[in-house]
Amino acid sequence: MSFLSATLSRVKPSPTIAVSNKAAEMRAAGADVIGLGAGEPDFDTPAHIRAAGINAIETGKTRYTAVDGIAELKSAICAKFKRDNGLDYTPAQVTVSSGGKQVLYNALMATLNPGDEVVIPAPYWVSYPDMVLLAGGTPVAVECGIDVGFKLTPEALEAAITPKTKWLIFNSPSNPTGAGYTRSELKGLTDVLMRHPHVWVMTDDMYEHLVYDDFTFCTPAEVQPGLYPRTLTTNGVSKAYCMTGWRIGYAAGPVELIAAMRKVQSQSTSNPCSISQWAAVEALNGPHDFIAENNAAFVRRRDLVVEMLNKAEGLTCPVPDGAFYVYPSIAGCIGKTTPKGTLIDTDETFATALLEETGVAVVFGAAFGVSPNFRVSYATADDTLREACTRIQHFCAALQ
Ligand SMILES: Cc1ncc(COP(=O)(O)O)c(C=O)c1O
Repeated sequence: MSFLSATLSRVKPSPTIAVSNKAAEMRAAGADVIGLGAGEPDFDTPAHIRAAGINAIETGKTRYTAVDGIAELKSAICAKFKRDNGLDYTPAQVTVSSGGKQVLYNALMATLNPGDEVVIPAPYWVSYPDMVLLAGGTPVAVECGIDVGFKLTPEALEAAITPKTKWLIFNSPSNPTGAGYTRSELKGLTDVLMRHPHVWVMTDDMYEHLVYDDFTFCTPAEVQPGLYPRTLTTNGVSKAYCMTGWRIGYAAGPVELIAAMRKVQSQSTSNPCSISQWAAVEALNGPHDFIAENNAAFVRRRDLVVEMLNKAEGLTCPVPDGAFYVYPSIAGCIGKTTPKGTLIDTDETFATALLEETGVAVVFGAAFGVSPNFRVSYATADDTLREACTRIQHFCAALQ
């Protein structure tokens, strides 16, 4: 019998981290590598938030806190939900964890029993299916291709629901596609959910503030108040506030669920970092004007990348509504061969050959459940993106 758990054997390590590791190895060996794999803004945490963290250290806010967050942060989170989403929550309905990832993990650990199914629209953030497996549940991926804008349709949702469905995980704007659901698209989905009262909604609103052009963000409990009693609305400060390393995520939902999630956290990590919690209070309560400034850079970069990738032979790159990813199709490259003789038969061979032959690191689509595609993170300097896209264009042009 294996020393390691049977559950763990069903889980794969994060492919996005694997790509970063391979790029780092090549860089260490002297290669000129451009990494477009990382899912984080290249901007520093704003000064007023950093100052709040420093102040927390200087004033001795360095001890254990309440397991799922200090009162000041919970009240800032309640105010945020009211301000941005029109949702009323009390502090007892709020939990704070070490990143959005831990919030989702706690919720799955707290609720899944063997046989429980979790509907996950694909392309999905890589961690969803594996977290469901770790928690003993069964992920049910629903493929949403480029033809439907990478978005779940009401018909596909209806078809995926069974008596065993416990959760729908819903992410808009999406990692890896940047696709966002309009209010009317979301209404179509919530109408289906209203017909299936045993299905709960775990909404991942991590990219709420990173939306562009005239796209308006909305979240399920806001669109359909009837879902409020069975919705866990999750969010975090990592992306919009440029705080990935601080590790603060949060959620609001029914009191019993929040208490169960607190129990999981109390027997695993206890409270999230006290200093980060105080910085997050400042992030949520303080000025937000830097977000619009950052978004102007993201739109410029998105447009640059979409335009250049659409000029690459064999690629089709839709324009995303938000986040900082594009998810081009490589359908027009499949079956071709690189100058070094590699047959491009999958998006994984495409991404590997692209890295080895041009030094551009992207994440292959199979990791996100929809192929043949790859994900580019454009949260990096314009010149770097221009150089990377030029290399991708040359790589595609050289395929035969
Ligand atoms: C869709 C989505 N949800 C959650 C997370 C996790 O965020 P955090 O860094 O706060 O754990 C990420 C991070 O990449 C993400 O892309």
